[in-house]
Amino acid sequence: MTKRPRRLRDHEALRAMVQETRVDAADLIQPLFAVHGTNIKREIPKLPGQYHFSVDRLAEEVKELQSLGIRAVLIFGLPEIKDAAASQAFSDEGIVQQAVRAIRSQVPDMLVMTDVCLCQYTDHGHCGMVVGDQILNDESLSVLAKTALSHAKAGAHVVAPSDMMDGRVAAIRETLDAHGFHQVSIMSYSVKYASAFYGPFRQAVASAPQFGDRKTYQMDPANRLEALRESALDIEEGADMLMVKPALAYLDIIREVKNKFSLPLGAYHVSGEYAMVKAAVAADLLDHDKIMVEILTSIKRAGADVILTYFAKDMARLLQLKGQ
Ligand code: PBG
Repeated sequence: MTKRPRRLRDHEALRAMVQETRVDAADLIQPLFAVHGTNIKREIPKLPGQYHFSVDRLAEEVKELQSLGIRAVLIFGLPEIKDAAASQAFSDEGIVQQAVRAIRSQVPDMLVMTDVCLCQYTDHGHCGMVVGDQILNDESLSVLAKTALSHAKAGAHVVAPSDMMDGRVAAIRETLDAHGFHQVSIMSYSVKYASAFYGPFRQAVASAPQFGDRKTYQMDPANRLEALRESALDIEEGADMLMVKPALAYLDIIREVKNKFSLPLGAYHVSGEYAMVKAAVAADLLDHDKIMVEILTSIKRAGADVILTYFAKDMARLLQLKGQ
């Protein structure tokens, strides 16, 4: 035998030298949940290690993330009032808007991204405006654009529309530009599947649809070519970054989108994927850190440039411990 692949695996330093994919803290985006009230840091039951933070407690968390090397956070909000118009989504005093202002003023170097969607803010729990049992597309666009604009006004650097209405990227771009926010980027949830992996998140933000499901706007998990069409459309409409969501069950899609398009690509390792690992670890089935590293490395190897993950803090802490 002249060719022995095991030679390059024979020493730890050699393995590190030929390692093709590395996850860096700067690749990770930590999602954060803001709630009304004061002095609240309450663990989310179905998402161990994740918390609801009142705005006055957010900055301390964001500073800690920064000290671990995390450079970006994605803000979700739990409003006090839900209504048919999703009025708290675009209110300047809305929970996300307050959270963004607090982080921008207290942790100025952190990149602040916001999730732009209506499902947390509508009484029916759908991501758009509703008449009867129909989720309206075009009527939802101005509401989403207003929401993105209010986030930009509060200081968001990047807005991330997750609603899956057709034409939302163009509508948001146009509104941002019309108000002088040319520099605010759009990271579109371009390829978002109607996935059962969002379960814990919907409990965490009380956004489960009150009737029907999200299948008329989120994608069928069986579809691959549709992911390419959705990505192409978002690029045409002015997206700055693309995203595939969820991640682990969609690694093939991440790779295809990465091969086909040149935009930076995010992958959202979602709540159910995270909760599954935490549950398996609690049941003594898996090693937490090893599984976390393997999953995040796989997502990056598949082609994601950045990973939105509830593991961001755990992973950054581990990298820091290992001196990487
Ligand atoms: C809002 C939104 C959802 C997630 C991110 N933005 C839920 C959904 O579409 O039902 C899911 C995130 C996660 O599961 O971690 N539309």
